[in-house]
Amino acid sequence: MSKIAQPYQIGPLTISNRIIVAPMCMYSAKNGVPGPFHAQHLGRLALSGAGLAIMEATAVSEEGRISDRCLGLWNDEQEAAFASLLSATRSYCQTPIGIQIGHAGRKASTSALWINGGKPLSRQDGAWPVLGPTDTPFSEGWPVPHAITDSDMDRLVSDFENCARRADKVGFDALELHTAHGYLLSSFLSPIANTRSDEYGGSLENRMRFPLRVAQAVRNVWPNSKALGARLNGSDWSEHGITPEEAAIFGQQLSAVDYDWLHISSGGNDPMAKISAQSAYQIPFAQTVKSKNPDTTVIAVGLIKDAEAAAEVIDNHSADLVAVGRAVLDNPNWPHHTLAELTGHEDLPHQYERASLVWRKRAPL
Ligand SMILES: Cc1cc2nc3c(=O)[nH]c(=O)nc-3n(C[C@H](O)[C@H](O)[C@H](O)COP(=O)(O)O)c2cc1C
Repeated sequence: MSKIAQPYQIGPLTISNRIIVAPMCMYSAKNGVPGPFHAQHLGRLALSGAGLAIMEATAVSEEGRISDRCLGLWNDEQEAAFASLLSATRSYCQTPIGIQIGHAGRKASTSALWINGGKPLSRQDGAWPVLGPTDTPFSEGWPVPHAITDSDMDRLVSDFENCARRADKVGFDALELHTAHGYLLSSFLSPIANTRSDEYGGSLENRMRFPLRVAQAVRNVWPNSKALGARLNGSDWSEHGITPEEAAIFGQQLSAVDYDWLHISSGGNDPMAKISAQSAYQIPFAQTVKSKNPDTTVIAVGLIKDAEAAAEVIDNHSADLVAVGRAVLDNPNWPHHTLAELTGHEDLPHQYERASLVWRKRAPL
């Protein structure tokens, strides 16, 4: 039987199976505060049957939001709303819940995806100044970033620390640092976005310097009793971009400062990149990272669309866990159904047990 349905230990956190809900922005917050939409959405994710649900990219500061509707966790109002969201969810479901924290860098200040296609906000729609490794915009029509200075770095590190502290306080079980997809920390890692000529640009060692400073700061404030991971790009899908081998080295640096997982995604630094988004397209990147980080949990993600594909990733040792995004949005019972298909057993919440596949086999509806 596939190991996917077996419990797994991510650092200090035990999860009941090896399927994770990937973080997905919902563009439904007001002033960064989670509201009624998040209550029902998190309920769906928590009851999905996944071993861990990671909440969407949540900004460490107002300027760090991707869009004006993204979640944030930098002030007391947001903290109180997250605390009540988690406590309501915990009242009916014990699935561990993680949060992804990040800063959108030069890709901040956009509209929600379904408003104007997620393009940069205009000044009259409330655009705000953005930050980047240099003053080069992400792409034509995107805002010119303010090139980050040493004092900006100090402030950013403290924003990440503040957010991580609050995430612990409100009761998240796990935290994922967003160092992927061309957002702030990813843009420092990528030679495409980071053309600095100081000690933060150039060699991989230099490009990793600021992201690792943030990673260490987050590690220092996030308790050792809770799981901590990072999402990183295995590739920029671009000739001059980050490579899987470089990602593996960044992963080793994170492992060395006690990060429990490495979640391998790709893309987002080069607007012209041709991404070959086929079934399980990012798994080779996860394999490379795993081969150099054998003792750290590696999560594979990206168009893992059915039970067979998910089980294969785990059973072939390509990665330790699989994360699934859109399939769960489409069908919040995807993890339940996948585990049932692979094991013949379905572990539904009590309220839904009478819908179980096992029951259906015994008696027709
Ligand atoms: C609506 C949507 C929102 C997303 N938001 C985030 C996010 O907040 N953070 C992140 O790292 N990735 C985000 N992603 C990427 C997903 O986590 C995932 O890596 C990607 O969708 C590929 O997995 P899938 O094929 O299973 O959907 C998002 C994807 C979608 C579809």
